[in-house]
Amino acid sequence: MDDVLQNIMDHAVAVAREAGQVVREALCDEKQRDVMTKSSTVDLVTQTDQRVEHLIIQSVKKKFPTHRFIGEESVAAGEACVLTDDPTWIIDPIDGTTNFVHSFPFVAVSIGFSVDKKIQFGVVYSCLEDKMFTARRGKGAFCNGEPLQVSDQEDVRRSIIATEFGSNRETETVEKIFSSLRNILNIPVHGVRGAGTAAVNMCLVASGCVEAYYEVGVHVWDVAAGSVIVEEAGGVLMDVEGGPVDLMSRRIVAANNGTVAHRIVKEIDAFSPTRDDEDSSCRAEL
Ligand code: IPD
Ligand code: CA
Ligand code: CA
Ligand code: CA
Repeated sequence: MDDVLQNIMDHAVAVAREAGQVVREALCDEKQRDVMTKSSTVDLVTQTDQRVEHLIIQSVKKKFPTHRFIGEESVAAGEACVLTDDPTWIIDPIDGTTNFVHSFPFVAVSIGFSVDKKIQFGVVYSCLEDKMFTARRGKGAFCNGEPLQVSDQEDVRRSIIATEFGSNRETETVEKIFSSLRNILNIPVHGVRGAGTAAVNMCLVASGCVEAYYEVGVHVWDVAAGSVIVEEAGGVLMDVEGGPVDLMSRRIVAANNGTVAHRIVKEIDAFSPTRDDEDSSCRAEL
């Protein structure tokens, strides 16, 4: 099984690199950044997102024809999104589409692989930085082959916290975002940052550059790969209400340690998804 999984992971790394090359080239061609919208005027997609997802899925299907897929842009096309026990590739072809459209330089290809609904490995290729983040359950986390370790900071007042504004602009949601942000800033923390991609934010936690990342409204393809990278770098995952994380629940806290994670949970004060967030076609098969 060990060799089989390694073979699958090697393919994920190769295809992520190939996809990243396509993304880099597309950045230089305005046509390939032409914007279409999905659920709202700020929920963007481009033909490059769709092309890259197609490229990844076709490449994997050729090698592993029985595997299943959950890909952001395939789900948008109306396919069911159910996480089963089967070997499943969870793909975000471009994490940071808004960054991509604006040439803001953090854009990642994110690939997680699950069996029995557990993420076995994660690959995040931050293509403009040319950083390949990888982690396999029980085997550590790496960036371009160098081991990753979360920050050892226990004091949230000496921490940088990452979060995002997402693409839900309902008044109620925006107010919740700002009230949690106000609490965090008032701790006070050293700083608040956001790379514009959930996957890169999680890799920043794994790299020890930020102590925690939290967001409500994320999908499984945003966080699947990053989740194992954070854990394998020594970090912890938590639900925003403090319990164990459910990657299908659309909310996550990823932190360097439990002390910081619990403090973030306390300050964001049970920031539950709005009705709109819960109305997701994604669920785990029971
Ligand atoms: C988004 C990014 C963003 C986060 C959103 C995600 P996309 O993914 O990760 O940082 O705030 O929640 O949907 O749409 O660029 O793949
Ligand atoms: Ca998107
Ligand atoms: Ca994403
Ligand atoms: Ca995406």
